[in-house]
Amino acid sequence: MSTIDRTVRTDEQALQQKARDHLWMHFARQSTMTEGDGVPIIVRGEGHHIWDAAGKRYIDGLSGLFVVNAGHGRRRLAEAAARQAEQLAFFPIWSYAHPSAIELAERLASYAPGDLNRVFYSTGGGEAVETAFKLAKQYWKLMGKPTKHKVISRAIAYHGTPQGALAITGLPGMKSMFEPVTPGGFRVPNTNFYRADEMGFRGTPEEFGRWAADRIEEMILFEGADTVAAVFLEPVQNSGGCFPPPPGYFQRVREICDRHDVLLVSDEVICAFGRIGEWFACDAYGYIPDMITCAKAMTSGYSPLGATIVSDRVHEPFAHGQTSFPHGYTFAGHPVSAAVALENLDIFEEEGLNERVRENSPIFRSTLERLNDLPIVGDVRGDGYFFGIELVKDKATRETFDDDESERLLRGFLSKALYDAGLYCRADDRGDPVIQLAPPLTTGPAEFDEIEQILRGVLTEAWSRL
Ligand SMILES: Cc1ncc(COP(=O)(O)O)c(C=O)c1O
Repeated sequence: MSTIDRTVRTDEQALQQKARDHLWMHFARQSTMTEGDGVPIIVRGEGHHIWDAAGKRYIDGLSGLFVVNAGHGRRRLAEAAARQAEQLAFFPIWSYAHPSAIELAERLASYAPGDLNRVFYSTGGGEAVETAFKLAKQYWKLMGKPTKHKVISRAIAYHGTPQGALAITGLPGMKSMFEPVTPGGFRVPNTNFYRADEMGFRGTPEEFGRWAADRIEEMILFEGADTVAAVFLEPVQNSGGCFPPPPGYFQRVREICDRHDVLLVSDEVICAFGRIGEWFACDAYGYIPDMITCAKAMTSGYSPLGATIVSDRVHEPFAHGQTSFPHGYTFAGHPVSAAVALENLDIFEEEGLNERVRENSPIFRSTLERLNDLPIVGDVRGDGYFFGIELVKDKATRETFDDDESERLLRGFLSKALYDAGLYCRADDRGDPVIQLAPPLTTGPAEFDEIEQILRGVLTEAWSRL
């Protein structure tokens, strides 16, 4: 072992001890720190690779957390942050403004469809969803319909952790310990075509689109249209493993929302900024929402930022006299984050990252579909650079794993084995067990092949252990 290697190892041991003593990791079992081997410590990123404290390199198959869309190690983003911090490190947008927040608002509005021209900043996705929820409630009060306060979303969907956003999140296991959460959240079926028959549907994808959208109307009518404020939907639902919308789904949802005076919120915290090959994924599926919530890749993660982009129609009743929206966050629209976002969006334009995703997505899909020859692979689905691979015990019957098997397979083996094999991605069982992939948009066919090869080896091994 060289002196440098020894120093890194010693540093790592010291860091592990500090982490064990002080770091509370999110959505993680504390026992992985206190009883396990420690936590993977990532120290560097470059392009689509990351390195751990021991110097080992991994493919970042998840863009951090659907965030680093332009790739790691972009010096010009660091420089944009430094320039802004030197000139004006902080100023709030509470009754004041600064140039980068203004420029970025104009830029986001220019990318957004229809009349979505008003940008309300936050620092992340959950706050953007929380903002949209509160805005919808106040909007209907201003419109003289004060009883419209309920929100509809889909089963297993994740929309963030603030208690309002949690009311929209459709994962009972993430809510039960915090009950009572904000009231008014109602759930409808999601668009998992692979498991549509378990939801009581049989038919074509087109028929499924209509069926799934009609469940929203059913819920609106059941609760009473005069009580429903908004529907929150991701263009491609992340949690559960990348459910794309069936044909015609969003067109029908839009009609239903219009018919019942319900706002449609496109939660694009993951899907915006190229993940599906467009600035905003609603454009990929041909619908215009009333609000878009976005965050993550707006800055490619070089600084935190979120936004709720609102239509002129929804903004209109706020635009007069003494009316205001009494809501905000100290760090929302932070000058450094806004400056970084502008530079990041420049990179997208200069390098044609959205076009690249549109061009390469079919290759990514067909590369992953090669895994269909493995007995453990039930379904490969998704869109853009955002795919899920559902794992099953029996391909013919689509039988899934029980809780114990899932625990052994995902937590006990897969996550670590994929990581050890050099691929950072997500093995998730918030719905049925899936592996999720969302690499930086700078990747291409060579990286897709590499990812497929690693998955093939590890999934083959997983099957032999069952
Ligand atoms: C669709 C969606 N909405 C909201 C959120 C919450 O975002 P944040 O973690 O930035 O609060 C997420 C996070 O992954 C998300 O995927």
